[in-house]
Amino acid sequence: MALNKQPYRGTRDFFPKDKRVRDYLFSVMTKTAESFGYESYDGPLLEEVELYKAKSGEELINEQIYSFVDRGERLVAIRPEMTPTLARMVAQVHREQSKPLRWFSIPNLMRYEKPQRGRVREHWQLNCDVFGAPGRMGEVEILQVAVELFENYGANNTHFEILLNDRAIVDAVFKSMMKTTDEQTYRLYKIVDKAKKVNEEGLKKMVGEVGLDSAAENIFYSYLQLKNFDDVKTFLTNNGQQEIADLFNNFVEQTKKTGLNEYLTYDPTIVRGLDYYTGIVFEIFDKHPDNRRALCGGGAYANLLQIFNEDQLSGVGFGLGDVTLKDFLEVHNLLPNLEIPVNDVLITFQEDDGLDASLKLARSLRKKDLKVVTSLDALKFKKVFPTAEKKGVRFVTLMGSDEMAKNQIQLKNLATKEQHSLDLNDLESILKIIKA
Ligand code: HAM
Repeated sequence: MALNKQPYRGTRDFFPKDKRVRDYLFSVMTKTAESFGYESYDGPLLEEVELYKAKSGEELINEQIYSFVDRGERLVAIRPEMTPTLARMVAQVHREQSKPLRWFSIPNLMRYEKPQRGRVREHWQLNCDVFGAPGRMGEVEILQVAVELFENYGANNTHFEILLNDRAIVDAVFKSMMKTTDEQTYRLYKIVDKAKKVNEEGLKKMVGEVGLDSAAENIFYSYLQLKNFDDVKTFLTNNGQQEIADLFNNFVEQTKKTGLNEYLTYDPTIVRGLDYYTGIVFEIFDKHPDNRRALCGGGAYANLLQIFNEDQLSGVGFGLGDVTLKDFLEVHNLLPNLEIPVNDVLITFQEDDGLDASLKLARSLRKKDLKVVTSLDALKFKKVFPTAEKKGVRFVTLMGSDEMAKNQIQLKNLATKEQHSLDLNDLESILKIIKA
């Protein structure tokens, strides 16, 4: 029986033209992260399942994790997210590092999900995280990095928005105002996380099952009605939560000074599905009606290092996936055309005995940092230009019997159609034309 040529469900083969797109996405990510002084790191593909059990949340552990027992009887997972690995690594070295510590990575992650538009089983995710920043300045900077990244792809506030919330607010509403137990609080978080995906009836059913009294239910539904930063301020102030209101307000004022406010909207349903978040949480959404989905998610996590018995060191960061990003750039026509590769020169010869001279020329040009493709075999004249087009070169060299007799090449600029007869050994003149 013949084997299946398709990749494993929910994973992708990256053929050269797909890989060019991925390389482009990654190059802008790297350039943006480095422009803020973030340092690149990486970790292992496998981690012990325990690492995720501590704080990642039940959905990830019960439904999405790829796990197996290794030959040494350890329960191992393929990383479904990077934050626990990052926290584990930071826990090893944070004492010797100056703060704030700024790191980024673009790992591939595996989650057992139902493949659909924007959701696959293996995706790559830019992670940018800061540890030990003063006050909420790490949050402000992380949002700036995310915005700058989208702007570097050519996007602006007509294309995307940042929906933001604060887990301190949600905690105040649930625990202080509604007087929920820990169990009820946890369940309400999960409900809020799903609130936009279910209809009113579904929501009421889920809330009914939590066992709240009617006063608490009313507070809960009023909370879900909050639409903007002023609403939430008034709601908190009127309900005796002045301190939380002021803290959040100060943060919002700071984002205004940094020019982020044109992107920010308050959204009570943003709480994030992962359990480690403790403060500001956000998701970046595509505004295009065909692609209304989260492009990026993140937030602040104050206590993650404590699972390694380390002192508190608060972190904040985001993860941004390659699949939704590519969909986003496509629907907004922001993806450059990467159908063909980009090279400088195609070196061809039309008679069999031109091989050695052409390989020698190619070698010399590569030493001058040019991308040089050789034909490796005599190439008929009529095939030269179609080949050049496929290889994405700007120049071709030709060497027929006339040129060979004179030790020359023809160098042709494909854009201007200019053609020069040049001595094969006159590297200086050849380079001058190519690099002009
Ligand atoms: P997350 O919200 O689970 O956060 O994932 C972040 C982003 O990764 C999503 O917004 C989406 O773009 C992409 N993503 C997640 N799962 C899939 C999937 N199955 N298929 C395609 N894309 C996907 C985290 O993972 C946090 N650890 C992020 C973080 C970093 N928080 C702080 N630092």
